[in-house]
Amino acid sequence: MPRLFLIAFAACLFGGATPQRAAAQAGKPVSFINDVAPILKENCFACHDAKKKSGKYDMTTYEKIMAGGANGEPITAGKPEKSDFHDLMVTAEQRRMPPRDKGEAVPKDKAAIIAQWIKEGAKLDGGLDAKADLVKELRVRWKPPVPPKVYPFPTIVNAIAFTPDGKQLAVGGHHEITFWTIETGKLAKRLYTRAERAYGLAFLPDGKLVVAGGRPGQEGDVRIYDINAKGKTEDGVNVLDGVNDKAVLVKHLFDVEDAVLCLAVTPDGKTLAAGGCDRAVRVFDLSEGLDKAKLVQTVENHADWVLGCALSADGKYLVTAGRDKTAKVWDLKAKESVVTFPEHQNIVYGVAVKADGSAGFSVGADKQLRTWKPSGEGKQVKNAGGHGDDVFKIVAGPKDAVFATSSADKTVRLWDANLTAGKVLAGLTDYVYAVAFSADGTLVAGGSYDGSVGVWKVADGMPVKIWNASPGIVTKEKEPEPKKK
Ligand code: HEC
Repeated sequence: MPRLFLIAFAACLFGGATPQRAAAQAGKPVSFINDVAPILKENCFACHDAKKKSGKYDMTTYEKIMAGGANGEPITAGKPEKSDFHDLMVTAEQRRMPPRDKGEAVPKDKAAIIAQWIKEGAKLDGGLDAKADLVKELRVRWKPPVPPKVYPFPTIVNAIAFTPDGKQLAVGGHHEITFWTIETGKLAKRLYTRAERAYGLAFLPDGKLVVAGGRPGQEGDVRIYDINAKGKTEDGVNVLDGVNDKAVLVKHLFDVEDAVLCLAVTPDGKTLAAGGCDRAVRVFDLSEGLDKAKLVQTVENHADWVLGCALSADGKYLVTAGRDKTAKVWDLKAKESVVTFPEHQNIVYGVAVKADGSAGFSVGADKQLRTWKPSGEGKQVKNAGGHGDDVFKIVAGPKDAVFATSSADKTVRLWDANLTAGKVLAGLTDYVYAVAFSADGTLVAGGSYDGSVGVWKVADGMPVKIWNASPGIVTKEKEPEPKKK
């Protein structure tokens, strides 16, 4: 299983104090929303949400928590010892919550917070509606941390994009996008984001940056930033606060309950598509400007996560890659599914489409890239091996003259539209998750699991620069020869 699905865990290592502990230690009354709800979300919601309701017990609002399930009210205010709700967490009996065969006991210090809350009257915080959805409330209240000045360990690069002038590389970091001057490999700008990770980056024709991403398992979002806004300067680096500064964060397109994993924008900047863990791709019409951005369609065409998406230049066709082992084509005008391409028979990680919509491309865990007809029966035209491991992404260069793929085999490779193999771009030392062309098509870049990024010339495959794009982390510079095919 590729590490794509394990990366969520690394996030915890960046640390940070948990708010519930802070409150309990300060001797303040326990707050339901700040102290109790996060514990329930962590330990109980998996079985007691609005969908599963184990024991007919839905715990996702205060009102429902107090009402209880099949056996009625589980909380006696003021008396934790007479409240099943708490008792079931700490009991030595066989019947425990979570059930013994299903999960670890609630940690003692957390169960103590629940007991204290019940003792203090099991109250709801003032100003909070008893019917408010707790998952949503917790998400809204959550505040992103300021990214560390110096990273404790390298970031995982899931998304990259060249700035429109081709001079800098924008890289998805930890709660920020970092911008690096390609010539020197030096950090030039930091854009703080609510999203912990960026999975998709795209520049609009006016130079604004669209970022798709989120916190795995918690939330996902697409937000748009003016990276030319005035920030502050710290140690010669331009710092933009995309979390709080309205001059930087110019548009909040949407939020969802889990990470947004892919992003596509038509060259005219009028149509934007983004999809992810909720299996849906949201399509926006930006033709009347960001203020009037309109959600025009929510396409639910896959049975599992949408891992990749691409749009034909006219915004008519949406091509998607699914963890359900298929690539698909959706006609946005007719609002219908037109092709399902099943040949990978394994996870499809990435897709591309010719600008005129005349050919579809997909890559996946079968280590193949495949091109196929995005209409009729969706027949495969050709497949190509070459990558020795999972292929994560495929992107089209300007005018479809060249395509680039990135792979777990640590390389970026170039291809023509007939999948004739071109240069193999070497020099990265881990899984290459991200790949992008510069706007003029002369440069191609790859971004890797170990934080390193590389920029190469498309014409001869020579490396321009390879460096680690994690602030404060310096790796020894090496610029090896590209492997000859
Ligand atoms: C892995 C699934 C799972 C998790 C996690 C879980 N529960 Fe349960 N819970 C159940 C099932 C199944 C039942 C019904 C069977 C039973 O009552 O023993 C239940 C029943 C209950 C009941 C009794 C409801 C009634 O009225 O009959 C309470 C109270 C309860 N759970 C509290 C909790 C709390 C508090 C947590 C978190 C600390 C939690 N549960 C976590 C599966 C789970």
